[in-house]
Amino acid sequence: MKNSTIIAPSILAADFGELAAEVRQVENAGADWIHLDVMDGNFVPNLSFGAPVISALRKSTSSYFDAHLMVQHPETLISDMQKAGCDGITVHFEACTHLDRTLSIINDHGCCAGVALNPHTSVENISQILDKIGLILIMTVNPGFGGQKFISSMIHKIRQARQLIGDRPIQLQVDGGITARTAPLALAAGANNLVAGSAIFGKKVDEYPFQIKAIRGE
Ligand code: DX5
Ligand code: ZN
Repeated sequence: MKNSTIIAPSILAADFGELAAEVRQVENAGADWIHLDVMDGNFVPNLSFGAPVISALRKSTSSYFDAHLMVQHPETLISDMQKAGCDGITVHFEACTHLDRTLSIINDHGCCAGVALNPHTSVENISQILDKIGLILIMTVNPGFGGQKFISSMIHKIRQARQLIGDRPIQLQVDGGITARTAPLALAAGANNLVAGSAIFGKKVDEYPFQIKAIRGE
């Protein structure tokens, strides 16, 4: 049966020397999606990986690839990301001068278009373009690093986003500081899709299934 809550482990916290094996292990442990944190050292003060690494990983898995672009001018990367095998591409509201156009480019590439909102950005900012969006990502940390503390005042924003979505087919994803303790708060506020990095990959491999279950609330 398909899980109603999607758990998307972020490989940012995985062993970068063993990425393909890490992805396989987390899939076997019950992951629904693979979350790919692409950072440019400019929009966020950290560098991670880009299309060549994603494309290499694509060869060893058929899982849904959920790219989270923490980059300036994300519109310049969309074609490469799609070719590398990304299924969903999420861009930051704060990084896009012409967000509506960027979302159209993502949709035209046949990918699910997502918009991420930093903690200071209100959900009303995207109320006029919901028809182009397949996923809203509420950041519960300031993006750039794994292992940060969940900002609990974002719970209210998750609720607002759920209300804004109404009955539209839009995923409500939460990213940052998700653990077995914070996941129930995000889910109760209306999230249906949770990203978790250190809470999964920070543990030993044989604990991955237990961690995923705990985050899912099982
Ligand atoms: C933060 C990234 C997150 C991060 C989550 O900038 O977007 O996806 O990897 O890591 P944790 O779960 O450790 O907060
Ligand atoms: Zn992320």
